[in-house]
Amino acid sequence: MNDLVFSGVQPTNQLHLGNYIGALKQWVPIQHDHRCLFCIVDLHAITVPQEPRELRQNILDVAAAYLASGIDPKRSTIFVQSEVPEHAELGWIMGTLTKMGELERMTQFKDKSAKGGMGRAGAGLFTYPALMAADILLYDTSAVPVGEDQMQHLELARVLARRFNERFGETFQIPQALIQKHGARIMSLQDPSKKMSKSDPSDTSKILLSDTADIIRKKIMRAVTDTAGGVTYDADKKPAVANLMTIYHQVTGLTMKQIETEFDGKGYGDFKKALAEAVVAHLEPITKRMQEFRSDPHELLRILDNGRERAQLLAAEKMKLVRSRVGLGR
Ligand code: AMP
Ligand code: TRP
Repeated sequence: MNDLVFSGVQPTNQLHLGNYIGALKQWVPIQHDHRCLFCIVDLHAITVPQEPRELRQNILDVAAAYLASGIDPKRSTIFVQSEVPEHAELGWIMGTLTKMGELERMTQFKDKSAKGGMGRAGAGLFTYPALMAADILLYDTSAVPVGEDQMQHLELARVLARRFNERFGETFQIPQALIQKHGARIMSLQDPSKKMSKSDPSDTSKILLSDTADIIRKKIMRAVTDTAGGVTYDADKKPAVANLMTIYHQVTGLTMKQIETEFDGKGYGDFKKALAEAVVAHLEPITKRMQEFRSDPHELLRILDNGRERAQLLAAEKMKLVRSRVGLGR
């Protein structure tokens, strides 16, 4: 039984607190008892149009965010998806096993294609879950730590692994999702019914890992709260406050009960002030380390070279087996 962990983030726009809490922060402790691969999934990023120069910057920014968050390149492999071509190759094979109906049900595709209509959406955006399945299966991954929005994609990866194994013989391990109880879905600071999202045009809806302390304070002080007062956790009746409490829980390590006790009898103003300071204190060293990695990219590039070599070895070996199982080549 393999105990490998794989996850990835798309190098699109700037990373926000939802990405950090839902993904990066969760990865850090896992690397102490698992072999981990953390990928910067640039092939996924181009399923919607990207400015080439910006994409290249974003790839390095995400790598810097991984390292600054505490991913240790001595323990974990950090690499760029497109630098290991086997991802695209297995993605194609997975696409041949995927049914149109399965892809049509994907809520992320429905959301992302809603504006222009399905007929105008790129075919790559449609088949993206097959590529994501390939990313995971290529390394015989056992667990995939992600935010809740990726559950549906992960379920498809499991289906495709079983389908391949049934058709061509035991080849892939069936991966499992690792989803946190509190923090798998951080919501917009302006609308607690929507997830915090890179593509949200409202700046105040999200806290970016690159935000200064003052901007973070302003955004938190402007966050919406609920009409019912009191800092108590109730996701149904007080979704905005529950979201802020989730963030506070994540950056301080306090339980919901402890947070309720701390703010018993206090108003939202006091809570938001404490929350802002806690988020600033948590993110400040991360933001600083990100800037250091970005201002001297040598170290970053060396780590990514190293990561590519390690991932490449594993991927090449697996693809040999896959090609032979499918009957490709001579
Ligand atoms: P993406 O930016 O779509 O590449 O997402 C990268 C990772 O962040 C994935 O594991 C997502 O599930 C996670 N993620 C994105 N948005 C949120 C959010 N609002 N709350 C929690 N996790 C999130
Ligand atoms: N689809 C994921 C997202 O949008 C990113 C991703 C691509 C991923 N391949 C992956 C996540 C493999 C985990 C494992 O967030």
